[in-house]
This record gives sequence, C-alpha cells and structure tokens, in this order.
Amino acid sequence: MPRVLMCPPDHYALRYEINAWMHLENQPDLALARQQWQRLYEHVRRIAQVELVSPAPECPDMVFTANAGLIVGDREVLLSRFRHPERRVEEPHFRRWFEEHGYTVYTMPEDCPFEGEGDILYAGERYLAGYRKRTEICAHRLASEYLKHEVLSLELVDDRWYHLDTALFVLDERTVVYYPGAFDLYARRVIEEHFDTLHVVEEEALRFACNSVVIDHTVLMPAGCPLITALLERRGYRVIPVPMSEFIKSGGACKCLVMFLER
Ligand code: ARG
Repeated sequence: MPRVLMCPPDHYALRYEINAWMHLENQPDLALARQQWQRLYEHVRRIAQVELVSPAPECPDMVFTANAGLIVGDREVLLSRFRHPERRVEEPHFRRWFEEHGYTVYTMPEDCPFEGEGDILYAGERYLAGYRKRTEICAHRLASEYLKHEVLSLELVDDRWYHLDTALFVLDERTVVYYPGAFDLYARRVIEEHFDTLHVVEEEALRFACNSVVIDHTVLMPAGCPLITALLERRGYRVIPVPMSEFIKSGGACKCLVMFLER
C-alpha cells in the first residue's frame, strides 16, 4: 500500500487571497468542508496508509499537504519554500512532522520558490514540473539533483491553473491526463512527445478534474467531471467522484489534500 500525508481541516479557512480562486467574499462552508475532507479521507484510507499532520491555527491552508514538500529519496524530503508569506508559516510545522518521523529534510535556497508535490509530479522514469505561478524554474534544477532523475519543466500560463497538479495528473508511467489550456505551446509539445495523453475539457478542468489522486486503478476525482470519467472508465479505471466545492473556493481539491510519502 502507498503511504500518504493528510492534514485534518480543523483550521481550514479562507483568510487571504493568493490565487485566482480565492475571494474573501466567497467563504467556504466550514462544516461542509469537514464532511468533504472526511469523505475523501475515508476513500484514501481504503487504498493507502494515511499519516496525519496536526493542523496549526495560524495555517488555514495547511490542509493542502501536497504543498508540504516532495519526497526525494528513502525518508528524504525536499521541504517547500512557499512563494507567499501567508503560507510560509506552514514550513516549520511540516518540517517538524518530517523530522519527528525520521526524515532528512532538505531546503531550497531562500530566493527559490518551490511548492512541493503541488508542482512536481512523479511520472515513472522522470518527473514533470510546473513553473511561473508558484514554483520557479531554479527549483526544478535543484529538485532534479536530489531526485537523480530528469525533470521536464512545463510553463503554466493561466492563473487559474497555478500549480501543476491543478492542470495535470499522471495516470500511469506512460499516460498523462491534462488540460492543454493551462500550458504554453512548448510545454504541450513536451507532454505529447513523452506520453500518451487524455485531454480534459475546460469546463471539467474548472471543476478540478486534473486534481485527482491515482492509486493503482482507482482515481479519486472532484465530482462533476463526466467526460474524463468516461474516458478513464473505458480504460478500466474506477473513478470515484468526491465533492470538493468548499476546497475549490481556496483553489484546491483532492490531490492538493494528499501528499505521497511512499508509492
Ligand atoms: N489556497 C492554497 C494556495 O493558494 C491552495 C493550494 C492548493 N494546492 C495544490 N497543490 N494545488 O496555496
């Protein structure tokens, strides 16, 4: 079973605006958010071993553990260096969790924004990495040294898809599911040249279809994405729709709430 990290939504809230989805006047229903998180958690628990990090009151976005960092080796993690001060307060909490669990913690230089598994995704022999919106390209080079694998840099060009994991997920080592409109032409070519692809339409990309968690042949996908669901089912995947409306108000959904510790 894979092992993942999640953070209970006790202190989840919308207190600032740091992406195109977050609007202070569009507050999440926190009771509903808890239910949605719990439902996701129950699904994940059936197919993975879930570790929990304690939420901190001053960190309303700490639920999005994909941004804690990136596993780069056996009990080795490259800690995130958040672009926004609003999220930098999470770094010591994630660091402490990793240290207490026996991880060696590496960090990026001060001037090199890096948002962990939100922007660098495992794709078999190589990794795919997004830049421009949150993570900067300097982080790709350094991550590639730690990972000892090739990292393909993909430029994100639309503010609504600001982390790689909002616009793309890896289905298996050969196949990528993505929303082309989030990437520049060159990035699209790079993706198409290296992988078989399934394209997500804009309407479903806006419902965070690309922010799905894939474990084996199960895909935990934000609810409301019938077209990509049908394509995946035709390939033999079991797609489980999970309502994520209250996290989408903060610019996140299923994958943002889950960080892979072991595959
Ligand atoms: N409100 C959070 C932020 O703007 C959402 C993070 C979503 N995480 C992700 N991996 N896409 O940073």
